[in-house]
Formats: sequence, structure tokens, C-alpha cells
Amino acid sequence: MTSSKAFSRPGFTSRVVPVIVITDVSQAVPLAQALLEGGIDVMEITLRHPAGLPAIEAIARAVPRMHVGAGTVRQPEDIVRVAAAGAQFALSPGISDALVQAAIDAQLPFVPGVMTPAEVLSAQSHGFSLVKLFPAEQAGGLGMVKALAGPFADMQLCPTGGISSDNMQSYLRQPNVAMVGGSWLTPADALAAADWPRVTRLAAQAVSLST
Ligand code: 3PG
Repeated sequence: MTSSKAFSRPGFTSRVVPVIVITDVSQAVPLAQALLEGGIDVMEITLRHPAGLPAIEAIARAVPRMHVGAGTVRQPEDIVRVAAAGAQFALSPGISDALVQAAIDAQLPFVPGVMTPAEVLSAQSHGFSLVKLFPAEQAGGLGMVKALAGPFADMQLCPTGGISSDNMQSYLRQPNVAMVGGSWLTPADALAAADWPRVTRLAAQAVSLST
């Protein structure tokens, strides 16, 4: 089971993962280009709006340098749909046996969500070494990250939830933090106004704080 692609780490280089709610598919490609211009090569497009799936499809087709992933994946059917749309990986706010099996069946790299030691154990027992800690700040923030590093030093985290340019560096300095995620890079008003230079500026600022 551990040889499945579902357990492999997604192939992007950024240590900052924008978590995005796209409400209009026409935003997708210019947003991907704006993030790339700012130095970010990954996007988590959530399935919280019907435009999310076609947005994934549009970016996968038109912006090959972008590693487009699907977020808010909650049901096995979501894995099937995002894989068909061209998502290169999927993330979930949680973990379930059905989701893990669907990712294995689809051969789609998958990052399950955890918030407790029991959920970390579950992820490890399935063969995952990278998990999304969600919601990170609400779960205890940096203190939680440091506490998990004791028993789970071999587990890499992507804290998400409450992360911003103010606190991202303290997370990224932790040895068990591979990357951080959050919505602050793609504010809804910037997307609605098609203010792509602002997105590029936010991305470039995050990249400079993450290196
Ligand atoms: C997510 O789904 O990962 C979160 O909603 C992102 O949390 P944030 O809005 O606090 O960054």
C-alpha cells in the first residue's frame, strides 16, 4: 500500500500554499499567473464554490508550470472529480478510510488533515508522512506544532488556518513544518477586482519571508 502514488509528496517547491476560493472561473488562469510571477508554484483550489472544479481544469490545461491541487476534499467522489479535472494532488480538512482508499484508487497524491495525535496516528498507519494541521491556530498554534514534534518527529506538517505574513515565519522555522497554507495571499476583494498585481505582491512578500 505504501508504494501508492497517493502517499507521495506533491512536487511543488513553494513553502507557502495559497488556499483559494474561486467564485468565477475567469479568475483562475490570471490568478495562477499572478502567483507564479510572485514566485509561488502551488495553489489549493477549494471545492467550496461550484467554480472550483472548472477552475482546476482551466489552470491544469493553461498553466502547466503551476502545481494545482484541490482542497476541501471531503468525499471519495471529490477525489474522483478533482483527479478527472487535472488536479495534481488533493488536500482534506480531515482523514477518513474512504478518502484514503479513493486517493489510492485514483493514484492521486493526497494530504489528509489532522488536529489530534489520534488523527496523526491514523495518517501514519495509512502511510502518510505529510499532513495538513487544520485548523492550526485554533488547535494550539505553534505550541501544538512543537508538542507534536516530540512523539511524531517523523511527521511533516502543513499548518493551515489562522496563518498570515505575521506568523508564518515562526511556523516555517519548526523542523516538523514542511510548508504553511492560508487564504491571506488571495483576498476575496483582490480576486473580485482582478487586482493581479496585488496578488503578485502578496506572493512575493510570502516567498521572501519563507526563504
Ligand atoms: C483552509 O481551508 O485551509 C482554511 O480555511 C484556510 O484558513 P485561513 O482562511 O485562516 O487561512
